[in-house]
Amino acid sequence: MHNTETAARKIFGARASKYTTSASHTDPQALAQLIALCAPDASCEALDIATGTGHTAFAFAPHVRSVIGIDLTPEMLAEARHLQAARAIANVDFRIADVHQLPFRDASFDLITCRRAAHHFSDLARALAEMRRVLCAGGRIVIDDRSVPEDDALDAVMNELDYYHDESHVREYRPSEWRQMLQAQGLEVDQIETYIKHRPLTSLTDGVSPENVRKIHHRLERLNSEQKKAMNLAMVADQLYLNHWYVMLAARKPG
Ligand SMILES: C[S@@+](CC[C@H](N)C(=O)[O-])C[C@H]1O[C@@H](n2cnc3c(N)ncnc32)[C@H](O)[C@@H]1O
Repeated sequence: MHNTETAARKIFGARASKYTTSASHTDPQALAQLIALCAPDASCEALDIATGTGHTAFAFAPHVRSVIGIDLTPEMLAEARHLQAARAIANVDFRIADVHQLPFRDASFDLITCRRAAHHFSDLARALAEMRRVLCAGGRIVIDDRSVPEDDALDAVMNELDYYHDESHVREYRPSEWRQMLQAQGLEVDQIETYIKHRPLTSLTDGVSPENVRKIHHRLERLNSEQKKAMNLAMVADQLYLNHWYVMLAARKPG
């Protein structure tokens, strides 16, 4: 296993219970947006990549025939299975797997989702090639992930901050990079939209080592006023907040 995947297993293994209740990962509005974008039908066989504690898989379950959620980290899937039992959801199945080597036959799924995880993949081109392989002709890939603006300084700062938050972080990509990577896999791009959330600094520092919390503060102190403005660094009710950039995209395997 690549070092990045070993690091991801360790970090997500230790933080698994946080994701079960994470406000950002359970946000019903964000999940509803993803479902609206996919427009799944009841006959869909769906695959949720890097399913974590299963929030995306559970949100899709009532709209499709079945969902398989795969993830690298056993502790995340243990949390997902507890939630599944508590909610008595029957058409979701979880398996340990690495996105770079999906244990499925070609053309097995009509829909592939992947939320808030692609920035951890050590080889995104290979991950996308695997997604394309297991997707049926005409099937859709829908990805929601952290992103960065098309600006060198902001790109560097956001990627650095997120690395200190989680050392299995590889890269948050710009929308233009996403377009280029999807097209390189022969996928037809339906939509690439960005959105911003103004989030407390604690979303980066909670559960992080004191050394990396210091690095996060030090990096923010070194920002110039233009960068602070672009990142909307501001006190809100005694807490420092800053922008986080995201991308939501949909692509199709030519039919
Ligand atoms: C933030 S969590 C995902 C949250 C989840 N998708 C949701 O919607 O709530 C990121 C997940 O990516 C998984 N992951 C990281 N690298 C992976 C890989 N190479 N293959 C499969 N899963 C991976 C981690 O184990 C972790 O559970």
